[in-house]
Amino acid sequence: MIRSPQNQTEWKAYFELRFDILRAPWGQAKGSEQTTDEAQHQHFAFFNDANQIIGVGRLDQTAPKVGQVRFMAVAANQQGKGIGKAIMDEIQAVCKAQGCLQIILHAREVALPFYQKLGYQLVEPSHLLFGEIQHYLMQKTLDA
Ligand SMILES: CC(C)(COP(=O)(O)OP(=O)(O)OC[C@H]1O[C@@H](n2cnc3c(N)ncnc32)[C@H](O)[C@@H]1OP(=O)(O)O)[C@@H](O)C(=O)NCCC(=O)NCCS
Repeated sequence: MIRSPQNQTEWKAYFELRFDILRAPWGQAKGSEQTTDEAQHQHFAFFNDANQIIGVGRLDQTAPKVGQVRFMAVAANQQGKGIGKAIMDEIQAVCKAQGCLQIILHAREVALPFYQKLGYQLVEPSHLLFGEIQHYLMQKTLDA
């Protein structure tokens, strides 16, 4: 099931997964996995049958009719099983239902093939995170 976390325990698990996958391997401090405006965005957590969060993603509205996917992460021992794709499909459906015509994201180099499989096109190299992780701006135009 994919839905937003709903209570303190779920929010803790949600941000912990983000931290474990996207921050801890680069020695980043606890707290660096969150932005100051989390409440303004839409959150997607994949719950397994045991009700544990094993995948996460966030949808921001960056411009009128443009959604931006951020903080996509799947638990290390659950990657490659379709969970990331399921979260991206749900984000895309929600974004489209809200009137999005385009989704953009900044992909880590290792994740480029994942997003390309989902129909995202490479636009240009963007920022370097933590001085070493090259990101690439990608975009997908949604059918009206
Ligand atoms: C990138 C990530 C979110 C993908 O989620 P996932 O659950 O592992 O991916 P899925 O199993 O849904 O993969 C969907 C498709 O993409 C392919 N794919 C996924 N990651 C891939 C990779 N690194 N290289 C090539 N193909 C990949 C899968 O093989 C699958 O193809 P298929 O439909 O033909 O079987 C996840 O692996 C992850 O959290 N990685 C570490 C953190 C990260 O890099 N996050 C992205 C930051 S931009």
